[in-house]
Amino acid sequence: MVEFHQIGEDQVGLRAPEKKDEPAILSLLARAFGQNNEGRLVERLRACGALVLERIATDRDGNLLGHLAFSRVTGSGKGHSLKISCLAPVCVDPAMQNKGVGTKLIQEALDDLQGMGEDLVLVLGAPDYYSRFGFDGELAKKVQGPYAGPIFMALPFTHAGHKDLPVEVSYATPFQEFE
Ligand SMILES: CC(C)(COP(=O)(O)OP(=O)(O)OC[C@H]1O[C@@H](n2cnc3c(N)ncnc32)[C@H](O)[C@@H]1OP(=O)(O)O)[C@@H](O)C(=O)NCCC(=O)NCCS
Repeated sequence: MVEFHQIGEDQVGLRAPEKKDEPAILSLLARAFGQNNEGRLVERLRACGALVLERIATDRDGNLLGHLAFSRVTGSGKGHSLKISCLAPVCVDPAMQNKGVGTKLIQEALDDLQGMGEDLVLVLGAPDYYSRFGFDGELAKKVQGPYAGPIFMALPFTHAGHKDLPVEVSYATPFQEFE
């Protein structure tokens, strides 16, 4: 059962994608990013079992409006037992951007992820955008890894996710092939 949310004048349904949605997801990623790399990344993350959570947003007719994926990140050091994932990629159909779809898609997915017992979520992206969800650039300074830097942010869901740091992280192998 898909739950629909009123976002401005639009009704947007959020759900996990099914196999039959995969071609439309690839097409959306290509339109949103203007290249095929993000689509390839998602396919490879799926194929190697690294995806922790994937969500899509659709309209009432089932047309795809948005997509996001969280994948497993492994930690070593003090935070080695934390459950850590990263948000990448996330996109909204260019014709539907700046209407609140991305915010709803990300917030609902983060709530689901928290319910799954995740300790810490990482993201690389515009601080102005991701800070609205609670992502914190200061906390991310305690997370060492390939994407550390000014636009690297972290969101803790648990006490451990906040306190069991520093941690050194490795991303799923498809990220190493991603440009
Ligand atoms: C980033 C993206 C997912 C946001 O989704 P969206 O539905 O357009 O966003 P929302 O309508 O929920 O939020 C709009 C707000 O985000 C801001 N925003 C959107 N993209 C942004 C960006 N790249 N950097 C900073 N802020 C951004 C807008 O200025 C707007 O701010 P406001 O609420 O203060 O007016 C979407 O714009 C997109 O698909 N972009 C292309 C792909 C991409 O860059 N993905 C992120 C990297 S993986």
